[in-house]
Amino acid sequence: MTSTSDIIKSNKDYTLTSWTAQGVWNPAVMDHAEGVYFWDTEGKRYIDWSSQLVNVNVGHSHPHVIKAIQDHVAKISYATPSYATEARGRLGQMLAEVTPGKLSKAFFTNGGTDAIENAIKMARLFTGKTKILTRYRSYHGATFGAATAGGDPRRHGHGPGISDIVRLPDPYAYRSPVYRGRTQEEGDAIMADMVEEIVQMEDPKSVAAILIEGYSGTSGIIQPTAIYWNRLRAICDRYNMLLIVDEVMSGFGRTGEWFGVDHYPNVQPDIMAIAKGVTSGYVPLGAAIVSEEIASYFNDHTLSMGLTYSSHPLAMAAGVANIEVYRSENLIENARDMGKVLRRGLMDLAEKHAVVGDIRGAGLHHVLELVKNRDTREPLSPWQGAFSEPMQIINKTLKEEGMATFVRWNLIFNCPPLVITDAQVKEGLDILDHALTKVDSFYEG
Ligand SMILES: Cc1ncc(COP(=O)(O)O)c(C=O)c1O
Repeated sequence: MTSTSDIIKSNKDYTLTSWTAQGVWNPAVMDHAEGVYFWDTEGKRYIDWSSQLVNVNVGHSHPHVIKAIQDHVAKISYATPSYATEARGRLGQMLAEVTPGKLSKAFFTNGGTDAIENAIKMARLFTGKTKILTRYRSYHGATFGAATAGGDPRRHGHGPGISDIVRLPDPYAYRSPVYRGRTQEEGDAIMADMVEEIVQMEDPKSVAAILIEGYSGTSGIIQPTAIYWNRLRAICDRYNMLLIVDEVMSGFGRTGEWFGVDHYPNVQPDIMAIAKGVTSGYVPLGAAIVSEEIASYFNDHTLSMGLTYSSHPLAMAAGVANIEVYRSENLIENARDMGKVLRRGLMDLAEKHAVVGDIRGAGLHHVLELVKNRDTREPLSPWQGAFSEPMQIINKTLKEEGMATFVRWNLIFNCPPLVITDAQVKEGLDILDHALTKVDSFYEG
């Protein structure tokens, strides 16, 4: 058997990893995984507090999903996208059932990034307009188009992106000066007014769509209220623009609803991008799902886009099996219930640890924003910068105590698989409590 150090060596010698200087990459070696846990090659168990990249929603090694993929690979391992397959039709129909309102037809992609790329192309082809409005604090993927659409600072350094992306200021109630002395709803109404003003300044005749995450994710779970969402829908209707909702991270039960946008029942997306939870990562898959109106436009206009692996049979089988699991195990309801336990626990942590400045989220999709001082709200680690000493201590403690999660700037993400139990939520909260205790002394109150 290859030793742990040899596995790490060959990974580091022959492969490159994402979003980091390679020299500081110090990976754990994943050996096997089940439910909300995975184990490294030394036998150490980790609770997966971020569902890997917020995608393993049904948990690791789900037998129903594994069997569906195994059965399908033995039957059809690949089919050109112009062929029909039973699994493709079934998944398309299931997606039409679970997505809101009039969303009816899916164009399948390899993941979230290319779901966004193709959603933008469809919006431009359908409206005949080119500008896309997006938020600064958002992430929509890593290729040139999707990275330009997201305002995430990781896009810097790649050179020019695509043209005609216009970014909107964020409805960031905790930090934006617009919200000072106002309720979140009052601030959100002003932010929505600003969106409309920007549309007018950009010329509504050139704006094809507003693109927004159904529930904000990696940028810090910075979510406006229904007031903002209802206004976005109204602005799109008034100026003949489309509303593209990115549910790549927030979809498939993550926030306690099927989709993040389901928290706003009056808001109907025209196009929805999905990925991650559609297969829980067992096989890569994404999709841009369009309304009946857009779908029928493409009945007699060429859909000029394509991918070798669009509607890959194994991804189709994995998608069908995942939706079956969401339904049969009531995972959306479990995310809602366990989300309440998680939120209560995070609020208890905030009472104990003054570094917890803000708690945001819904369902099993929560973030802790850590600060040096609750009055000044100075972040415990600089935005975009290297980890400060306390964040390094938190990272180290979580790892030592067997928690794997997504820590960014001054943010700790709490997004475990939807199969998590009450006892497992409490187990994770205890580890967080220990990590926060170690940085209490960094509070400058
Ligand atoms: C909201 C959102 N959109 C798009 C993407 C890109 O998806 P992928 O990494 O599957 O290409 C992500 C990935 O994290 C995401 O969170």
